[in-house]
Amino acid sequence: MIKTSASLLASNLAQLALEISRCKKSGVDWVHFDVMDGVFVDQITYGSPVLKTVRASTDMFLDVHLMVEDPTKQIAFFAEAGADLITIHVESFCDIAAVLKDIKLYDKKAALAVKPNTPIEAVYPYLHLCDMVLVMTVEPGYGGQAFIPETIEKIKSLRKTADNAGYKTLDIQVDGGINEKTAELVKKAGANVLVAGTALFKAENMKAVCDELKKPV
Ligand code: DX5
Ligand code: ZN
Repeated sequence: MIKTSASLLASNLAQLALEISRCKKSGVDWVHFDVMDGVFVDQITYGSPVLKTVRASTDMFLDVHLMVEDPTKQIAFFAEAGADLITIHVESFCDIAAVLKDIKLYDKKAALAVKPNTPIEAVYPYLHLCDMVLVMTVEPGYGGQAFIPETIEKIKSLRKTADNAGYKTLDIQVDGGINEKTAELVKKAGANVLVAGTALFKAENMKAVCDELKKPV
């Protein structure tokens, strides 16, 4: 089953609760919460106090994407604020295995993200600690960018490697430039959790776009 995760970055942040209920009504599965620290990426977005208010306003699955230089200290904050899944970057400066284990200690799903220019092999030593791998399909930092087609091969290799290693239920998430057209490519390659910001929030009909993204290939 294909899932969609709506990136709040493209929503009307002054009306967060309304935007999230619009997602739920449209059949979106998860809410994607992009945390940027101004160091790992240029911009600064929002942190765990904001996630806490989001948690209070919805029962939707909250998917937290940490684009921060060192996520070590952040796990407790986001777990306690109500995250359901926490993603850290393999390029961040921390003990990757220890932080993934820490996420699991809080009884949350754990995921590892990889930037477009990082070889997919970088995540392989950690697959046993991951519920999901996020293959970035744009350079992290900004919403509304164009999909990078070279990432397709990384998704294919990851799906093959995970299957061969017995991780048949590993979720593969993609994030960046996902719309009705690029969705087909990533699903064919083996991705099953599609993040979309612009395509969902700027759509005239969010439900129609969501249905299209979730269509099996
Ligand atoms: C980029 C973020 C993405 C972004 C996706 O750093 O991780 O989640 O919001 O936005 P779209 O779907 O507009 O490319
Ligand atoms: Zn993201």
